[in-house]
Amino acid sequence: MDPQQVRQTPPFDQPGVRQTGPNSYEAVILGHAWAFTPAEIRVPAGAKVSFIATSTDVIHGFHIAKTRINLMLIPGQITRAEYTFKEPGEYLLVCHEYCGLGHHAMAGKVIVE
Ligand code: CUA
Repeated sequence: MDPQQVRQTPPFDQPGVRQTGPNSYEAVILGHAWAFTPAEIRVPAGAKVSFIATSTDVIHGFHIAKTRINLMLIPGQITRAEYTFKEPGEYLLVCHEYCGLGHHAMAGKVIVE
């Protein structure tokens, strides 16, 4: 995938969360300097969530606190992971790979309802 074309390439042309089955969701996420799009992801507790993510520029990290989700977002590559949040609450999403000046501010959250 051409990182220059990510924003025009499905599914990354429509980042966000969508339901894909009775108890499954897909979260399409872009990492870019210095934010995640979307910055807030809402899913129900107990649902299987498939994360599909990439970067539009440099290498970013993708770590969701209190979970085993610990990924790298690499330009031109699609990173996938599945996770089921059992406990409702807010989970911090952080970039844990140094990516430049705004690195420390690059964060989002997963809200499990
Ligand atoms: Cu993106 Cu650090």
